[in-house]
Amino acid sequence: MNTQILSVPAAIRARRTVRHYRPDPVPTELLDELLDLAVQAPTAWNMQDRSIVVVTGESGRRELSAAAHGQPQPAEAPVVLIFVAETAAWEAPNTDIAELAGRRGAWNPEFTAMFESRAEFHELRERGLLRENSVKNAMIAATYVMLAATSLGLASAPMNGWDPDLVKKAIGIDDRPDLAIAVLVTIGYSDATPPHPGRRDRARNIFSERYPR
Ligand SMILES: Cc1cc2nc3c(=O)[nH]c(=O)nc-3n(C[C@H](O)[C@H](O)[C@H](O)COP(=O)(O)O)c2cc1C
Repeated sequence: MNTQILSVPAAIRARRTVRHYRPDPVPTELLDELLDLAVQAPTAWNMQDRSIVVVTGESGRRELSAAAHGQPQPAEAPVVLIFVAETAAWEAPNTDIAELAGRRGAWNPEFTAMFESRAEFHELRERGLLRENSVKNAMIAATYVMLAATSLGLASAPMNGWDPDLVKKAIGIDDRPDLAIAVLVTIGYSDATPPHPGRRDRARNIFSERYPR
């Protein structure tokens, strides 16, 4: 395990999108740690309605590179993480979630009853927002992964430039309309950290009390 672990603020400042990788594999224990941290990410109602498909095989990564319009990251990086948003996960009984939270003293009976009613999910369905909800949860997990990767000495890249049908086919879910691809994140080692492309002055994006008109 990497001994020089960066703090969260240091990792936030150091993280860059890395588009070229060395072929060196990511050690199993490091990848395990990264995935352990990924599932610590919060989800609405603790529904955990996002999954990660870990692709390390060369043919799978090549297929993902082709699905991403030939972008090199999935072919070069030893690990590609596919963040899958499970838009219908809330419809399952999910009794394990409520039981565990109750046992740990995290949820009281009132909160558990609200979870069991799925009231918010029914509302999301009426408003056509179920996909958005689970994609939000998947994106938070992806953010955790990218920052944890930097902290642990790994390079990463988020990717949104791909054909969703081809990505779904590559991971064997092309017959599942309830599953959506949220984002791909490549993980590996790089010889070169690209320069920070910079950010606008924060006054351009941070406002007080009301959005400016
Ligand atoms: C959701 C998301 C999708 C992205 N998709 C791609 C992509 O498909 N290909 C790519 O080269 N970069 C992609 N990027 C990387 C951005 O271009 C990059 O984050 C941005 O230029 C800022 O650079 P930095 O990440 O080094 O700070 C994506 C970033 C985000 C957040």
